[in-house]
Amino acid sequence: MNSATQFSQYSKNDAKIGIFDSGIGGLSIAKCIAEQLPNENLIYVADSLHTPYGEKSVDFIIERVNTIAEQLLRRDVKALVIACNTATVNAITQLRSRVDIPVIGVEPAIKPAALSSKNKKVGILVTLATSKNPHFRALVNNHHNGAEVFIQPCPGLVEMIEQGQQNAHHCRVLLNSYLEPLLIKGIDTLVLGCTHYPFVKQQISAIVGDAIKIIETAEPVTLQLSKTLIKANIASVSTRLGQQQFFSTAMGKNQQKLFNQLWQTEINLQALPQ
Ligand code: DGL
Repeated sequence: MNSATQFSQYSKNDAKIGIFDSGIGGLSIAKCIAEQLPNENLIYVADSLHTPYGEKSVDFIIERVNTIAEQLLRRDVKALVIACNTATVNAITQLRSRVDIPVIGVEPAIKPAALSSKNKKVGILVTLATSKNPHFRALVNNHHNGAEVFIQPCPGLVEMIEQGQQNAHHCRVLLNSYLEPLLIKGIDTLVLGCTHYPFVKQQISAIVGDAIKIIETAEPVTLQLSKTLIKANIASVSTRLGQQQFFSTAMGKNQQKLFNQLWQTEINLQALPQ
């Protein structure tokens, strides 16, 4: 290996991981990455100006994914994490064909849920756009493992989480209206198929009770990211704690407050230039 290659390898290991979502939901994934890969440098982008992706067209989602990916590539990222189920099922294939760094996505954890369900009845909460997506439908068909899978779109829920209204009465009413049909079907396992939903997990548990197992995706995605970085020889080799940067396309007092609340510390939120 000549010195130029060594230098470029060194800078790749040191480069940041770009993580993005339609809003603050992907922080549920970023938090897990920061905890489990503490020496990695992270940049998080919330496209809160354009949230919810779940109620937008496929073309719109693809256009936003490409715009944000370009912004992140300009900031020297070594890998991209689409911390959004809706953007993953609608836009990951085309993004992978456009960039030459690893792109990791988030997909609803149907396979582990079907395996862990005892009565073979699984509920899955997703956005409208995910529920209609053919790739998502194929995922359900290929991994249900004999379980009945009940798909429940949840329009309006992402907006409430983006507005920090998780504990409001109308959020509980909305959650009830989405969970009730799944409870009637007798599910024993529930998949959170949108990265915003872990931020209402407590409220969901309070409605469905302890007997229903709730499955999230942050840990498997982090494991997948870690394996990918190691395989590509670009995992951080630093022994220092990684730095984190946070950007949003919709700046405002409320955004800053939500970020601080969900990251559980005061962070410096910056505007992402359009
Ligand atoms: N957090 C996103 C997901 O995982 C999307 C939400 C939205 O913008 O509708 O699907």
